[in-house]
Amino acid sequence: MPNKSFVSRLIAIACVVVLVPSLAGGASSGPDFSSSEERRAWVLTTFLKDIEARWRFHNVPAADGRFLYDLVRETKRQRALEFGSANGYSAIWIGLGLEENGGRLDTVEIDPGRSKLCEKNVGQAGLESVVNCINGDALKVSKTLDGKYDFFFIDLGVVEVFSFLESVESKLSDDAIILLHNIGFEGSYKKTLDYARQRGWAVEKGRPSDGHGYGFFVVRKHLHAWDSSPAMLSVLEAKLRKGANGKISTKCIDLTADEISGEKFDLVYSSMALHHVRDTERLLGKLYRLLVPGGCIALVDLDVEDGSFHGDNPGVHHHGFQRDEIERQLTTVGFRSIGQRTAYCFEKPDESGITKKYSLFLMTGYVAAEGRLGEFDVPVSGTDDLSSSSA
Ligand SMILES: C[S@@+](CC[C@H](N)C(=O)[O-])C[C@H]1O[C@@H](n2cnc3c(N)ncnc32)[C@H](O)[C@@H]1O
Repeated sequence: MPNKSFVSRLIAIACVVVLVPSLAGGASSGPDFSSSEERRAWVLTTFLKDIEARWRFHNVPAADGRFLYDLVRETKRQRALEFGSANGYSAIWIGLGLEENGGRLDTVEIDPGRSKLCEKNVGQAGLESVVNCINGDALKVSKTLDGKYDFFFIDLGVVEVFSFLESVESKLSDDAIILLHNIGFEGSYKKTLDYARQRGWAVEKGRPSDGHGYGFFVVRKHLHAWDSSPAMLSVLEAKLRKGANGKISTKCIDLTADEISGEKFDLVYSSMALHHVRDTERLLGKLYRLLVPGGCIALVDLDVEDGSFHGDNPGVHHHGFQRDEIERQLTTVGFRSIGQRTAYCFEKPDESGITKKYSLFLMTGYVAAEGRLGEFDVPVSGTDDLSSSSA
């Protein structure tokens, strides 16, 4: 630990030698355990703490290691890549999370001695079938990697990380999480942030770091835009040709009639489409079956209005909705943790020029699942406006 006194560090190292002789060198496997649960508990309570006590390789702080573990586990990552293994401390945290998901990590280290040490520590932690240690320059190794990764962690010390991120971009899945640790060096922070924003990635800044720079992570998502009207889709497609970098794809589909199979999604949202659907409960049942366990639905539509919003527009089956009724339908088809709030209030003139007030609700619901992020999200609730009362 950086702030431990020299004496307490010496004691910690002495204890390591007594309690875990193999850490001092020699055998590459840890003590014998009767179960993998016992081994994992030992790694978390003893082995990682021993490495922390020696903290020689600018390892991530323990809080960041725990964050990596939680993130990998809770977002069900399957295939991770790390640049900058050092002695394998962060790789072990990531590996423990992946082990629970049946996933794998490739970790790359340029220094041969450190890479060997990483391999040894990974072996001690019993993670040799989860973590693959690669010795080499990450920029060169990235050209040899096959397949797609859904998690990418860069922790390279005092280097410009931008080129490393660029070298791996084509190997990242659409829903990859990219986590950059301590990128305050060599102008990396601004350059990387600008790059991420240009690509429309969701950027989250300011994870705890050890004071040498910044950390932030980026979640990349792909959006599927579905509509039953070819004309509406062609308007969207014209806009997409000007940007969006392949992150949005379109499909012409009548959700009330066509069978939907195969694809599963994390989030389904619909804005101002529900009042055009006659049998909303049937549609909500179909949308429920499109979601993965823990997935979320978000619906924005009109509160009950007097029919003036669309005038005599054909294809309008509901003059807004009673929120209780939509909540009942969501519950009936299986959604849980339903929440609702007013999303927007506005005024507009009706066909005869009389100004009318309208409001939109936002309603959310989740597909139940053990251990998925969605379950821990606080449902949207309350009736407070997200906007001013007139637009
Ligand atoms: C801050 S340490 C990594 C600490 C590690 N992630 C942890 O928390 O346990 C940075 C490591 O990146 C390695 N490194 C620097 N440039 C590299 C490159 N081009 N390719 C691979 N590794 C590199 C360094 O040798 C060093 O071991």
